Amino acid sequence: MLRVGILGCGSIASKVADSLKRNRNVTIAGVASRERSKAKKFAALHCPDAKVFTGYEKLAASKDIDLVYIATPNTYHYEHAIMCIKEYKNILVEKPFAMSKAEADSIFFEAKNRGVFVAEAMWTSYMPLHKKALEWIAKGRIGAVKYVSANLGYDIANVPRLNSQALGGGSYYDLGVYTTNFALSFMGDDIRVARVFARQISSGIDKDTTYSMESEDGSILGNFYVTMCADTDKDGVVIGERGKIKFTNINNYRKITLLSQDDTLLEEVEAKEDYLHGYVYEFESCANAISKGLIQAPEMPWARTVRIAALGDAIRSMM
Ligand SMILES: NC(=O)c1ccc[n+]([C@@H]2O[C@H](COP(=O)([O-])OP(=O)(O)OC[C@H]3O[C@@H](n4cnc5c(N)ncnc54)[C@H](OP(=O)(O)O)[C@@H]3O)[C@@H](O)[C@H]2O)c1
Repeated sequence: MLRVGILGCGSIASKVADSLKRNRNVTIAGVASRERSKAKKFAALHCPDAKVFTGYEKLAASKDIDLVYIATPNTYHYEHAIMCIKEYKNILVEKPFAMSKAEADSIFFEAKNRGVFVAEAMWTSYMPLHKKALEWIAKGRIGAVKYVSANLGYDIANVPRLNSQALGGGSYYDLGVYTTNFALSFMGDDIRVARVFARQISSGIDKDTTYSMESEDGSILGNFYVTMCADTDKDGVVIGERGKIKFTNINNYRKITLLSQDDTLLEEVEAKEDYLHGYVYEFESCANAISKGLIQAPEMPWARTVRIAALGDAIRSMM
């Protein structure tokens, strides 16, 4: 049983704790907040058996915790990751893993030196339907990939964290990392940013960003759109020379559909009840990897996280 400690009792941490309630491989053994009353309230609501820690340092140092789940705002991930690694604590870090490639490199450098497990909580990569789509492509069901597209938007412009530069706000940091991970998953690792068009609000936060990517050999084009101002359909598509895969909700796969070149339905897989428990997969992957003595999760190897961070640097420099 993997004993997880939650670092930061915010919104996503509560959803994760609820998802893990009946899990047999993973348990929430501790929760840490900057405020004792907040941690106590969080534990009472979501994980009554968890130990309550006041201050993140105490959680990082606890012998009762196998993995710390870092669920603080984006700009704090680096500081909290390094603190845990220095305590030889395995970590699962919320997306975006870091604010830049330099931060990501530094975290992995420290983790490698100490043999500590680190993974990015890019929850989509761990989902069964993501793996199924990769399997269809590997089996040649759509032939060579030619075009990839996805949009991801929520009407969340009123969320304070997203409007704060100090907390790493903006639509690209919050949502673009998902579309870039989608691009890397289905276009391959050798891609570059071709064009960026971002609309900024006064604080320098991008309210929506659209960008194009191209494979280094020029054979695949990708188009992506993220926004914090509207609920989009969140659909994605991967088009190959002999067929296509349509994704219903690229941020929590509801359904994937395999079509032939002339749009004949070949196969369709629905998430069904998985749709409600998507956070479980990333934790089960951590439990499995740590039990095998691995320091990376196969679904989100360090190289992938570094690539997402590097492409994010490029996109922000072109905004
Ligand atoms: N995977 C997903 O589906 C998903 C969804 C939403 C968000 N996220 C990611 O999860 C992270 C947290 O997002 P969230 O929506 O849960 O944010 P949130 O509700 O604002 O919670 C963040 C928590 O971080 C702690 N914190 C530490 N320093 C802080 C500071 N200076 N200001 C505010 N909070 C601070 C607080 O916990 P204490 O007060 O208890 O110390 C706070 O409750 C972000 O990186 C975000 O991108 C992931």
